[in-house]
Amino acid sequence: MLKPCLKEAKVRTDKPITFKEYKIEQKYKNLGKNKKYFIKTYGCQMNEHDSENIKAILEQMNFSEIKEMEKADLILLNTCAIRENAHNKVFGMIGRIKHLKETKPNIVAGICGCMAQEEIVIDEILTKYNWLNLVFGTHNIDNLPTLLYNVYNGQKQIEVYSIEGDVIENIPAKRDSKYKAWVNIMYGCDKFCTYCIVPYTRGRQRSRKMEEIIKEINDLKEEGYKEITLLGQNVNAYGKDLKEDYDMSDLLEKAAKTNIPRVRFITSHPWDFTDKMIEIIKKYDNIMPYIHLPLQSGSNRILKLMGRRYTKESYLELFNKLKTIPNVSITTDIIVGFPGETEEDFNETLDVVNICKYDSAFTFIFSAREGTPAAKMKDDTPLEIKEQRLYKLNELVNKYAKENNDKYLNKEVLVLLEGKSNKENSLMGYTETMKLVNVKASDKYIGQIVKVKITDVKTWSLDGVICN
Ligand code: 5AD
Ligand code: SF4
Repeated sequence: MLKPCLKEAKVRTDKPITFKEYKIEQKYKNLGKNKKYFIKTYGCQMNEHDSENIKAILEQMNFSEIKEMEKADLILLNTCAIRENAHNKVFGMIGRIKHLKETKPNIVAGICGCMAQEEIVIDEILTKYNWLNLVFGTHNIDNLPTLLYNVYNGQKQIEVYSIEGDVIENIPAKRDSKYKAWVNIMYGCDKFCTYCIVPYTRGRQRSRKMEEIIKEINDLKEEGYKEITLLGQNVNAYGKDLKEDYDMSDLLEKAAKTNIPRVRFITSHPWDFTDKMIEIIKKYDNIMPYIHLPLQSGSNRILKLMGRRYTKESYLELFNKLKTIPNVSITTDIIVGFPGETEEDFNETLDVVNICKYDSAFTFIFSAREGTPAAKMKDDTPLEIKEQRLYKLNELVNKYAKENNDKYLNKEVLVLLEGKSNKENSLMGYTETMKLVNVKASDKYIGQIVKVKITDVKTWSLDGVICN
């Protein structure tokens, strides 16, 4: 048994990163014969993509996927630790699995992902949920075949690493879409914002080598993919941990030069956004004019307590530079009710929202995460007040989301049609600026980038018809 360790997760050394190749041993390849797996994914795109890797590994072992948990032989929960409610959902699900296991004791059940990287969660699992067969973390997905082999040979497996982490190349992926693909460019984060658990659960920043990333994009293009999203917790810091002479702007340019129709990237930390990146985004039509630029707070006092390394003024300066990208849309993340946030601090956040008029924003109430510095800060704002702030913020965010969408009415935009929409006789897809559009169109357009005229506008989506 290898448990996670919070103390180790906090450490960063300058030990060089190890690059490894994933390989699966022949003896594991039939383990899943006649067995069905169910996987439920919580949280961010990074987890979504990890699940795509886990699915492909399981299918190499001859497991087949099933969408109903009740019929599965193997159940995995790929978990998220970012806020308390993500935790609660997972523990609720573990309760349901326990119930299932009472009638079908042969079910193998396990958890992985960010919660598995938390020392307190594993301690709780060992005392209260000791019947779980398998726990593995975010650093050792490649070892899943061995772990499962041991589980099927009667050994419970808990294997979570907290220190460092490697870069593993060549892990297969069973992608959810045939047209859009996630491409990891880096793992982990070294920023240590004081509220955030990610640096502890995902470990040290490790960038993939540029040639590996570009090869993956070229392969995806060959397979017919239309869009790739370069993925990382803090993509702008790409390459800083490598001893190479390239950075995120070089990677963006190389990605654009593959000529894949659409290149996106998330998430950007304002700290590392360079002028050179902005120039590259402007230079290539296939780099999409959409930027997610988390603000978190508009108060300099709170930003400092959050350890965000920028001020409201420097954020706005960067924001204004980004606005020079033609037709750009910008979204953000905001936390309300950070420990010690006063009404005045909150009003400063509203001020920034009023200046930036974001296309959209993800808004959250601060959630104390065990082991982070912010969890120890004095937090005397009642939840009721925090909820009122969130409500007020959301009203403002929605107002600007609608105003931004209104500008699209009667305009012609390019949409990558991904699949069927919930609306009758319609397909859904996204504009270059990441607006969701429901388009009246037949299925033959699925997978194509088409010109669409916008006929109706709502707060969170647009409606349109294909232009002839
Ligand atoms: N509490 C509330 N929101 C958080 N986020 C990260 N950590 C916390 C936390 N402890 C939010 C941030 C981040 C987004 C992914 O989640 O806004 O940008
Ligand atoms: Fe968390 Fe900050 Fe890293 Fe983003 S940049 S993952 S908020 S520590």
